[in-house]
Amino acid sequence: MSHDDWTANANQTVVVSLVAPNTNSESGLRTIGSFHPKFTYPIFGDDEAIFGYRKLQIELRYSAWDMRPNLNISYSKKFPGQGDTQAADIKEILHDFLPEVAFQNPRDFEAAIRQDHSGWTPPGKLVTSFDSGDKRLEVWKGSLGDPTVNQLLRRIQIFVPFFIEGGTAIDVDEPDADRWTVYFLYEEKKSTEFGKSEYIFAGYSTVYRFFLYQKPTITEASNGQQDQSKKDLVLNGDFDLSDLPCRTRISQFLVIPSFQGKGLGSKLYNVVYQDYLQHPQTVEITVEDPNEAFDDMRDIADLRFLRTTPEFNALHLNTSLLIPKSGPAPKDILDNAAAEAVRRKYKIAPRQFYRVLEMHLMSKLS
Ligand code: ACO
Repeated sequence: MSHDDWTANANQTVVVSLVAPNTNSESGLRTIGSFHPKFTYPIFGDDEAIFGYRKLQIELRYSAWDMRPNLNISYSKKFPGQGDTQAADIKEILHDFLPEVAFQNPRDFEAAIRQDHSGWTPPGKLVTSFDSGDKRLEVWKGSLGDPTVNQLLRRIQIFVPFFIEGGTAIDVDEPDADRWTVYFLYEEKKSTEFGKSEYIFAGYSTVYRFFLYQKPTITEASNGQQDQSKKDLVLNGDFDLSDLPCRTRISQFLVIPSFQGKGLGSKLYNVVYQDYLQHPQTVEITVEDPNEAFDDMRDIADLRFLRTTPEFNALHLNTSLLIPKSGPAPKDILDNAAAEAVRRKYKIAPRQFYRVLEMHLMSKLS
């Protein structure tokens, strides 16, 4: 009997589903959407394989509104241990990635989620709502310091290793939780079960605000006091950090597979971006390790928005300088001071801004 007979592909074996009570059945649940993780190597190792079971199935069900998880592992046979070769302890492995509630008995989970949840709303406060096709979507936001936000984030943190390559989950217990804001994207629909609104989780984004250390002015530096006293106030907790200028960083951003490719990621990004554009303390909005899909989405969203602003549209290449007949190459093809002023006004980080500006200017040339 080879090892391969006992080895399962973890990405195919794990099935994540969003479920809700079923109107047509006394006890059953209906599945709203299900999908496989894209990656499992941070959990099950580089080979993304699980050893020790036949016909292994790992079902991770979530109640669609509050994302209460439930893990259900089934198999036809378990490998009889031989010395050091033992079947993987799946529950033990997943304990590092799921909250305790996920390990509840499946029947208790089903009973819990069949309770009337009408009137439930996502944690935090409603930021905006919009229509997309035949769906109504809402974005809610709250601080990680809010226990309901914290609980929801804790439940979905496994989506980071599942879908964001190289992504790191947040330490939800960290003391400066208030510097994290979490945006939740939900579909809101009229429930046939309770006749009221029903919420279906569609995605989320976490945002962190860094205190921005601004270089002291020459006068401040020369007396060396003003800046130190500001720092002391912060360290002593006598000064509210939220009043200080900050760099705001989008840390994790995810739309769940059944909602992807419908323009919702772009919408969520725009909501987060516009929120911080209006936030007086935010000096710049950055993104932590964006992947190619996120970059593509953000380039299009930033370009669309910037093209609605007169200052950005006024930026142009001085084409008369492009092909000099003689003499040194011209330096002032673009009004750099004007470009920098637009960048600062719209709080976009330099690399991103100049990439988008280049796309814009090139499209004008062709
Ligand atoms: N590959 C390449 N381009 C993409 C992809 C992709 N997988 N997804 C979206 N885009 C681009 C396309 O140009 C798309 O335009 P189209 O309408 O012509 O296809 C545009 O982005 C807008 O797409 P949306 O439908 O608004 O994006 P979606 O709702 O699918 O969300 C996202 C995009 C967030 C990347 C989603 O696919 C996702 O959550 N993926 C898994 C997790 C992930 O990769 N998150 C980002 C990690 S980086 C970070 O967290 C900071």
